[in-house]
Amino acid sequence: MRFCKPAETQPCYYCEKIETVEQEGGYPIRDGIYTFENYIFRCAWHARFTCSKCGTQHHFDWFHWCPSTEELVCGDCRKPTLKPVAFWDRTYAYEFYCDECDDYHLDLLYAEFQGAHPWQLGNRTIVSNIESQEPWTPLWSPKAIRTGEDIELIEALKLPNRIVELREDLKYTLFRVLRHAVPEDEIDRSETQESWEANAEDYADLTQIDMTGDPNRQFIIDPALWSLVGDVSGLSVLDAGCGHGYLTRVLATKGAKAVGVDFSGPFIHYCTRVESEMNLGCKFYRASITDMHELASKSFDIVVSNIVMGDVLDYKSAFKEIARVLKDDGRFIWSNVHPVFGRTAGAIDVRFPRDSQRGESRYLKMIDRYFDSGGEQYTWMKSRPSWGFVRTLEEYSKALKDAGFVISEILEPRPTPEVIQQNPREMAFDADRWTHFIIYECVKRL
Ligand SMILES: C[S@@+](CC[C@H](N)C(=O)[O-])C[C@H]1O[C@@H](n2cnc3c(N)ncnc32)[C@H](O)[C@@H]1O
Ligand SMILES: [Zn+2]
Ligand SMILES: [Zn+2]
Ligand SMILES: [Zn+2]
Repeated sequence: MRFCKPAETQPCYYCEKIETVEQEGGYPIRDGIYTFENYIFRCAWHARFTCSKCGTQHHFDWFHWCPSTEELVCGDCRKPTLKPVAFWDRTYAYEFYCDECDDYHLDLLYAEFQGAHPWQLGNRTIVSNIESQEPWTPLWSPKAIRTGEDIELIEALKLPNRIVELREDLKYTLFRVLRHAVPEDEIDRSETQESWEANAEDYADLTQIDMTGDPNRQFIIDPALWSLVGDVSGLSVLDAGCGHGYLTRVLATKGAKAVGVDFSGPFIHYCTRVESEMNLGCKFYRASITDMHELASKSFDIVVSNIVMGDVLDYKSAFKEIARVLKDDGRFIWSNVHPVFGRTAGAIDVRFPRDSQRGESRYLKMIDRYFDSGGEQYTWMKSRPSWGFVRTLEEYSKALKDAGFVISEILEPRPTPEVIQQNPREMAFDADRWTHFIIYECVKRL
């Protein structure tokens, strides 16, 4: 068991919050006998459980209980949508479609509010998930089964002032360690390439979902990117830093003469193999986008580049090389992790409980050392560390100007309410509170 039992306990963080809003006969504040890396004390009801399907442990708010199969199932096994409903101090619940019941089940906290938590129903089988003698004690139940109040999505997504809340909750907070950027001249270019060669397979698995892409791409970046790119039929378009080639292939299906360039051998190998199966007419080259000598000057109408520049060490040369291959008045449309809100070096996420799956558990982002540009190593899932680079808005805009570009538009994309409802975990109280991405449209004006 990974639970750590502290020598001294505090009242359960969640019980205390519920107690202040439960009208009907009071709510017991249980001892917070479990604590996690976040130093938030939690009772057994509000600790972690193990998924009956995949065996993974998660924060309790990521589960629902299926009364007919008597299984506790996590949100990785059944993707939730957002149900706007006011209960206790919450304004929404996660709603999970259960294929075994052909019905919907709500998350564990909502179940507890209704009196439909497995422990309230007398089911003790899931006790083995918790290293505790009597987790259901003290047992509390509402007098009758009740339902939360239906509210509008827009109301559900109004967040109270997190800074005020933070002040109140500060006693529980543990800040993530601040990471500093490494100056770019101390980083070897071959290292940036090697990590993308080693990680190509993981990245493709993670971001390639047929032709739709990952949620950030599908719901946030793509709609904004395409609103700038417009009709590409008959145009020559370069996808600079094409990775597994998703964007190159979509360009080709929209009628462009599409070329993808990436310096990672495994990516180009993957792209070439997929092209030989799909025959979309895409061409792929392995090259650094800082030196694409195989491509003629002034040969493209548009260059697109999706979330690449933050991975390119010598971005100034990349901009110049992109300007070289573009026709006069050609457009360069590129997305990037946002230099302020998307940065991780010099930034701190205040999230607690840290294992909570809900977006509002991220209280705020704090940015420091904004001017310390440079590289930082990051990992996603189980990948090897790669180098990413943070630069200021001014540095990017100056480098664009030096390469002969004029910025004609900047977009800071955000998801629509429908997208938030269907993808609450990725989008609610996160992508709708600050922009993670920035998209530039630039025109070559030498
Ligand atoms: C975050 S991935 C994005 C890939 C792709 N554009 C997409 O939308 O999925 C960054 C890509 O930049 C590539 N890259 C980084 N530096 C590069 C360079 N100097 N030349 C060419 N590709 C580079 C990496 O190999 C990787 O494929
Ligand atoms: Zn509790
Ligand atoms: Zn699971
Ligand atoms: Zn069910």
